[in-house]
Amino acid sequence: MLTSSADAGVLGRGRLPLLFLLLLVCSSCWLLPRCDARRTLAAAGAPATPIRAVNLGGWLLTEGWILPSLFDGIPNNDLLDGTQLQFKSVTQNKYLVADQGGGAAILADRVQASGWETFKLWRIDETTFNFRVFGNQFVGVNSTGGVVATATVPGPSETFQLVRRDSDKSRVRIRAPNGLFLQAKTMESVTADHSEDTDWGDDDPSVFVTNNVARLQGEYQICNGYGIAQATQVLRNHWSTYITENDFSFIASSGLNAVRIPVGWWIASDPNPPLPFVGGSLQALDNAFSWAEKYNLGVIVDLHAAPGSQNPYEHSATRDGSQEWGNSDANIAQTVRVIDFLANRYANSPSLLAIELLNEPWAPGATLPSLKKYYKNGYKAVRRHTSTAYVIMSNRLSISDPTELLQFAGGFSGAVLDVHYYNLFDSKFNSLTVDQNIDFVRNNRSADLAAVTNQNGRPLTFVGEWVAEWAVQGASMTDYQRFAQAQQDVYGRATFGWAYWTLKNVNNHWSMQWMIQNGYITLKN
Ligand SMILES: *[C@@H]1O[C@H](CO)[C@@H](O)[C@H](O)[C@H]1NC(C)=O
Ligand SMILES: *[C@@H]1O[C@H](CO)[C@@H](O)[C@H](O)[C@H]1NC(C)=O
Repeated sequence: MLTSSADAGVLGRGRLPLLFLLLLVCSSCWLLPRCDARRTLAAAGAPATPIRAVNLGGWLLTEGWILPSLFDGIPNNDLLDGTQLQFKSVTQNKYLVADQGGGAAILADRVQASGWETFKLWRIDETTFNFRVFGNQFVGVNSTGGVVATATVPGPSETFQLVRRDSDKSRVRIRAPNGLFLQAKTMESVTADHSEDTDWGDDDPSVFVTNNVARLQGEYQICNGYGIAQATQVLRNHWSTYITENDFSFIASSGLNAVRIPVGWWIASDPNPPLPFVGGSLQALDNAFSWAEKYNLGVIVDLHAAPGSQNPYEHSATRDGSQEWGNSDANIAQTVRVIDFLANRYANSPSLLAIELLNEPWAPGATLPSLKKYYKNGYKAVRRHTSTAYVIMSNRLSISDPTELLQFAGGFSGAVLDVHYYNLFDSKFNSLTVDQNIDFVRNNRSADLAAVTNQNGRPLTFVGEWVAEWAVQGASMTDYQRFAQAQQDVYGRATFGWAYWTLKNVNNHWSMQWMIQNGYITLKN
């Protein structure tokens, strides 16, 4: 009753009529259980209708796994920024190593490869790279031709060419800035003095076999991989075709009432963001707002990639997995300016439901003091432009105490705490059966959510990402339906609402569109 009679207030705006409506509703249901809790929530400004949203992942912020074909046109697209390579000398049969993680000579004496034997690429062009070692220094050639990992900033001496064998791309040679090739003469001596000649044989000390052990496919990688001219073409085409008005129509007609849209910090410098990022995503976000207005959907603008990157994942637009967000006041102030820009631009849209200050800050790199400082200033920036938009603050990832922000966030009116619940990304889920997964949602997740949900609505709670996917192999359609329904039931208790990850995805269960169209997910009103 509460939900159906309050349709007009889906977006939680227009406080006066909404309050009036809620008074009417509550006065007629005061004998019902939970009515008190609901009245307190209403007083705290909870959405009149709980938010049932879908994320528009992989649209304005690239994540390769959502749509891998976006990367198809990049030459050497297995050698993007952040790709991790290990090099085994064919003559020594040992791996190159930055001993102790860096700061001294590169050796060729390791039997096994792990962190110190792994080199992260910074791509200059399709064949030219810097190599970053475990301790974050860059490999370079010193004045006497020694190969060392001492530079903290890469320059010409740290710039190498990777020459791959045509018939076997994992076999490489490394051309140094002096034009000569690196060679492992002995296990203790790696030098930049081998001639160009090679037959690629196992007796050539300048030949290495690479293991490609990790990669990133985020916005940094796609932009720098294509280069600005082609990246602009590829991404503008993607932005105008991947999500269109038809999708907003589909979302509204499916019984959802909002979208959460991940964006990167450079959207605030559109149309000429700092390299390697390219302009044009702001126009797409403008379009999203006009479609949302047309179909009466709320928009949650979600700052998913902050300057310096707030987590090591590709979706924070990190270059090589390093996380530097929040390390300085200047960086926090720069991030607040992005929020100010977004709040200013969309404050007058009736579809602006919320601004999410930061997605998935990762602990311990994102410290609690810097995060609180940012949330406080980010909240103020939103409130300079709108008194009605919700302000969403994410819990940190990899923390032991999920209530660490509860009291803090409860101090801001209209604040929402975002938690992400996946039955994935942790080995404890690997062995769970279908029923164990569902029990985990109904018992453990239910308890997790209750622990961060204050019934007075301060703060409101939001399960801003979840998915009906798991580590179970060969589950049936019915299994998936039960799993999705269990999550809808439990996350439906979040006092702000939930959002599925994501609308479209080449992996069917991760695509809410596919799940709805194929009857795996049903939204009841
Ligand atoms: C260059 O590096 C090599 C290998 O570490 C070292 O032996 C040599 O002393 C270094 N030369 C200079 C000038 O630092
Ligand atoms: C779920 O909670 C129960 C009870 O606290 C606990 O024993 C169990 O280990 C939890 N399940 C998982 C998979 O963590």
